[in-house]
Amino acid sequence: MTTPPTKNAKLIAWVNEIAALCEPQDVHWCDGSQEEYDHLCAQMVASGTFVRLNPAKRPNSYLARSHPSDVARVEERTFICSKSKEEAGPTNNWASPDEMRATLRKIYKGCMRGRTMYVIPFSMGPLGSPIAKIGFEITDSPYVVANMRIMTRMGKAVLEVLGDSPGYIPCIHSVGAPLAPGQKDVPWPCAPSIADKYIVHFPDTYEIWSYGSGYGGNALLGKKCLALRIASCMARDQGWLAEHMLILGLESPTGEKTYVAAAFPSACGKTNLAMILPPQGLEGWKALTVGDDIAWIKPGPDGTLRAINPEAGFFGVAPGTSYDSNPMAMESIKANTIFTNVVLTDDGDIWWEGMGPAPAHGIDWQGNDWTPEAGRVGAHANARFTAPAVQCPTIDPQWEDPAGVPISAFIFGGRLSKTFPLVYQAFDWNSGVFMAATMGSEATAAAIGVSGIRRDPFAMLPFAGYNMADYWGHWVRYGARAGIKLPQIFRVNWFRKNADGKFAWPGYGQNMRVLQWIVDRVHGHADAAESPFGLMPRYEDLNWKGLDFSKEQFLGIMDIVRDGVIEEAAAIDEYFGKFGNHLPPELEVERKKLQKRAESAPETWSLGG
Ligand code: GTP
Ligand code: SPV
Ligand code: MN
Repeated sequence: MTTPPTKNAKLIAWVNEIAALCEPQDVHWCDGSQEEYDHLCAQMVASGTFVRLNPAKRPNSYLARSHPSDVARVEERTFICSKSKEEAGPTNNWASPDEMRATLRKIYKGCMRGRTMYVIPFSMGPLGSPIAKIGFEITDSPYVVANMRIMTRMGKAVLEVLGDSPGYIPCIHSVGAPLAPGQKDVPWPCAPSIADKYIVHFPDTYEIWSYGSGYGGNALLGKKCLALRIASCMARDQGWLAEHMLILGLESPTGEKTYVAAAFPSACGKTNLAMILPPQGLEGWKALTVGDDIAWIKPGPDGTLRAINPEAGFFGVAPGTSYDSNPMAMESIKANTIFTNVVLTDDGDIWWEGMGPAPAHGIDWQGNDWTPEAGRVGAHANARFTAPAVQCPTIDPQWEDPAGVPISAFIFGGRLSKTFPLVYQAFDWNSGVFMAATMGSEATAAAIGVSGIRRDPFAMLPFAGYNMADYWGHWVRYGARAGIKLPQIFRVNWFRKNADGKFAWPGYGQNMRVLQWIVDRVHGHADAAESPFGLMPRYEDLNWKGLDFSKEQFLGIMDIVRDGVIEEAAAIDEYFGKFGNHLPPELEVERKKLQKRAESAPETWSLGG
């Protein structure tokens, strides 16, 4: 073991304890330097974990292929180990903390044999910011170290900021594949089956233990485990918000800047919206990226809600990303990027479905020869890129402001092919919390074993570290807090389909038109009509300059079928029933109001009258 580069007694004792448990071959304290990163990457190229991409096409970039069983988050193996099952609530997997600790002691015993144990000091949020939190991830995966260096502020400077303080969040990760003496390693070690994986959170001690997976949110523990599940518990305890939200700054042609935060479930367009470019016709507007996945939000001294992006990189969905759909993401991944589960082209570059013309030949995400005629996808649907946020050309100059940016609107959305219109605004705070609590989405590839439509309240279903209904209560109470300037709340749906099964809204850059209306509403510059769901723009309230989208087409994605809403109100009744007396009564009041508005609406409610 190398000498620890710290005198922090608690930290050293913890690292020694975990080393004694996991029995690694050696221990490496990460300093976060470029040399260390390059060395690890070279080592992974030698071991077959990484393929170095053509430096002329994709400088300092690598491709990794995961094991086919380890391609996304495993929600059924994600556990919240609060004292009681009730504290975790009906939407989380609960396990008794004592029993889980005993299980973990057993499976971690000797689990790093034959491997190096890395100690990663990291900060979520700008280093030294009063809002930031320090974590340490112990891992036996060099892939995780390399990704954490992009996704967080990582290394020596974190140790300096921590000093002798015991205030850090311990995160332990193992791929769960010890090596016997002389045993040859595989390119992507992980536990053999889903049942062997454990993503475990102890909300009472703010602790994370992850075993058996090397992929994404299962393994990069600063992201979902710390910045959402554990942070949501801290936020409850300390009076702030930890949310699955992008943060975007919108600058009007007159130079007025408005920040919005938007929550969409996994793989439903956060990265796209976070990097939006104003389309033709909206020249003069500017959109600036602060974050694409997570927001930590606290009231500032002036009562505005201030948001920071705790991350330093993007772990973005690759398929569907192109110069048409998301040019700023394409610019962000030109160099210094790790690609996982995409196609390797014959000239040493990468490709995925939806990027543009397919190469005549390549190597698919499973390492096999592939051609466009192969009859199967080349990139996995949850293939991802890991890229430094500073490489995004639209990164906001204030993105690292330790004080955060002031949020004027919250936007919630899902992937819903029917019933839900393009955009509407909540009548007030509680009606907005109701809208967010009841949102749903059709399944995506970001999680294993999820199908059909599911409610994904606040896009936090897989990420709330405590009882979902108590989390709603936390939001309701925020609205009643004195001295706070509450943001307006909106719901959007880019994914409604028309009769022939095609997306009815062109989406992507055109979403800026909806954002412009939202900004106008926030500043009291735009009108709205009252519908059963909420306040809606009429055709003439949106800016259509540069887009050929008729009033008829617009009415088609805005109309509301009464029976659809009545069904929705009944379905919500049943859903709310699951939460028993944890359900904030304010939300049942909102549900009744929705039902009433629906019952007195015409068979098809339309902006056309
Ligand atoms: P996580 O990182 O999993 O939390 O997801 P995310 O919300 O950041 O998802 P992302 O932005 O990567 O979007 C995933 C998919 O949605 C991509 O394949 C996009 O092409 C598609 N998408 C994004 N925006 C739109 C849109 O406006 N319209 C349509 N039709 N598809 C979109
Ligand atoms: C998500 O699933 O919401 C992600 C990707 O952002 S992961 O980090 O793998 O959870
Ligand atoms: Mn996410």
